Amino acid sequence: MTRHPTYVILMGPPASGKGTQADRLQEGLALPHVASGDLFRYNLKNQTPLGLEAKGYMDRGELVPDGLTIAMVLDRLARPDCANGALLDGFPRTLAQAEALDQALADQGYGINLVLDVQVPRDELISRVTGRRLCRACGASYHIKFAPPAVDGVCDKCGGELYQRDDDTEATAGKRLEVYDAQTKPLIEYYRNKGLLAGIDGNQPIDAVTAALKEAIEQNL
Ligand code: AP5
Ligand code: MG
Ligand code: ZN
Repeated sequence: MTRHPTYVILMGPPASGKGTQADRLQEGLALPHVASGDLFRYNLKNQTPLGLEAKGYMDRGELVPDGLTIAMVLDRLARPDCANGALLDGFPRTLAQAEALDQALADQGYGINLVLDVQVPRDELISRVTGRRLCRACGASYHIKFAPPAVDGVCDKCGGELYQRDDDTEATAGKRLEVYDAQTKPLIEYYRNKGLLAGIDGNQPIDAVTAALKEAIEQNL
């Protein structure tokens, strides 16, 4: 029996918890976690031309141009492990990206099933950004206060080294929030008008946000 592929989008401002929650949701959904920011960081780690080009934009807190971003994500979605769909995190982030995704899925007779919009107030976002630490090996996300690892600087999951992202300074985070308000926030209306949007209160402990997301998925998928 074949199942219609399922596409779920996790939306929300920088540091709202998209990556943290995607890790917790992907198993239950049986969908791979496709995060545009992680794909750019992976390309940068491997010094690919795409990664090197993206770096300047990321360090300034700006969006990478649509053409590059759309090609990268659609290429990822065409891989075999996405045959049943994907849990998208950080993409789409502009109207052009949303339209390109709609078109690419429509060409195959598919569409987006659900958009989960995780909302968190600005002050809380800044403290989440500046305290974040990531695993160099597996990408797992920690926070020095809100989600500390068992051993300082070491990943609980794989023992990898924890590091701070270059764009996780207070100044760059402020710029990323501005960019979010100007370019990504309009997508909330775009998906609301399509009847796909579920709003989630992201200003709660991590487990409570996971529970709210799971409930929205159960009700809407
Ligand atoms: P990207 O990597 O997507 O960054 P972002 O959107 O700024 O989002 P973050 O990854 O910062 O936050 P998150 O929501 O995943 O939060 P997390 O779970 O880690 O993009 C980076 C850059 O790449 C962009 O600036 C741009 O240049 C480029 N880019 C990416 N996609 C693009 C696109 N589509 N188009 C163009 N350019 C693109 O959590 C954050 C912290 O808070 C962690 O420390 C975590 O432990 C903690 N935390 C999480 N939840 C909670 C909670 N409930 N309570 C307390 N702490 C919590
Ligand atoms: Mg993330
Ligand atoms: Zn790890």
